Amino acid sequence: MQKIKTFFQCQSCGYISAKWLGKCPDCGSWNSFAEEKKEAVSRHSSIVSHLGKSEPQPLSAIKGGFEQRTSTGIGELDRVLGGGVVAGSVILVGGDPGIGKSTLLLQALSGMATKGGNVFYVSGEESPEQVKIRAERLSINSGEIILLAETSLEAIIRSASKLSPKAVVVDSIQTVYTEELVSAPGSVSQVRECAAKLMLFAKRSDIPVFLVGHVTKEGAIAGPRVLEHIVDTVLYFEGDRGHSYRILRTVKNRFGSTNEIGIFEMSDSGLLEVENPSELFLLEKPLNVPGSTAVASIEGTRPLMVELQSLVSRTNFGMPRRTTMGVDFNRVNLLVAVLEKQAGLHLGGMDIFVNVVGGLKLIEPAVDLGILSTIASSLRDVPIDARTFMFGEVGLSGEIRAVTLAETRIKEAAKIGFMKGVIPAGNAEKIKYDPGIEIIGVRNVEDCLDAVLA
Ligand code: TYD
Ligand code: MG
Repeated sequence: MQKIKTFFQCQSCGYISAKWLGKCPDCGSWNSFAEEKKEAVSRHSSIVSHLGKSEPQPLSAIKGGFEQRTSTGIGELDRVLGGGVVAGSVILVGGDPGIGKSTLLLQALSGMATKGGNVFYVSGEESPEQVKIRAERLSINSGEIILLAETSLEAIIRSASKLSPKAVVVDSIQTVYTEELVSAPGSVSQVRECAAKLMLFAKRSDIPVFLVGHVTKEGAIAGPRVLEHIVDTVLYFEGDRGHSYRILRTVKNRFGSTNEIGIFEMSDSGLLEVENPSELFLLEKPLNVPGSTAVASIEGTRPLMVELQSLVSRTNFGMPRRTTMGVDFNRVNLLVAVLEKQAGLHLGGMDIFVNVVGGLKLIEPAVDLGILSTIASSLRDVPIDARTFMFGEVGLSGEIRAVTLAETRIKEAAKIGFMKGVIPAGNAEKIKYDPGIEIIGVRNVEDCLDAVLA
């Protein structure tokens, strides 16, 4: 009798050990080992070698460079994909449970089905009735969307080959298993093997495949980082449960830029594209209240005007608190130190709260100037003019440093109706056109506070 070999594999990075370990020596995660069984070594050495195109050949002899793209009917999704779905590509959509992955993909399939031809939705998590209920909310009722509740990979590929649809969605990759392996669905080897087989199917048939991937508490796509290496495109769907905005971000894209984001709003009848995000995020900005300003941020290649708020209040306990939402905690501490040292503000006995409105996360240093100004504004109880916007990086000695894409930021702000921009002097000197609004270049923190708290 053939003996089934077992081994232990880290579920977050794929490290293999003969014995169970408490801590992964490779990626350092705790309690991540699970037992896996494998009878035969996988025959998949690589995807391309299975496509029968592995003969050496000169580059000049290869025709092509042309990729066939299909629109999903959702502009924001097409944009993050680099201009539509590429034939035969595999796209992984990751995100927290309940964020709207199934909704997005059902809407995308419906968009692709309107141009004729079937599309295929495989659910390993929900029954066809549950999918139908969602479709009803989205007012989707197409005979061209074929549903299947199935978790066996072999059965899925069989049906997909027979249907030969325009696109396939597998919701989710963690529920699918291949009969070749005895490990449980969702384990690293299953997820990797299933993804590799679906990749092979996509490349052979030229049918695009969307995979839904769950995200662990730590924020990685559950199971393996290895999944990200296999697929062509990785999209993350993020957002705050408490807010209706959702951001679709490209993490990897073999067929386009990774700098794009798509912005959606979750409504009663599905996800709506947000065409003018800057206006949306500034909608409720209060007028002439201390501690609030608009910052011109860049998300990917796209300018985004966002409201930033700070509240400074006397601490009731010995230790002053610093709380940040949407901006980096350490960055705020650094800016507080700069304000104390370079501008002489007394923030030692103060609680400081900094918040980005709308549940957005702003990671670029260009928002420094906004954080710094709103803290000073709240401390001094002097409002920043509502028609002022700002951007700029702050250095440790209080200097304001130039940032990238200044022109894009200024144009966006002017378009929305801002009248005055407080920006790094390094950027202001390089402006070659007439922005049509007042631009103040600042060199250091004191300049900046003079300009915004006049
Ligand atoms: P879903 O797509 O099921 O999320 P995921 O597949 O990522 O787990 O969406 C779940 C949430 O979205 C759920 O809480 C209900 C909400 N929702 C709406 O607000 N409006 C809608 O039209 C739909 C379909 C869902
Ligand atoms: Mg779902």
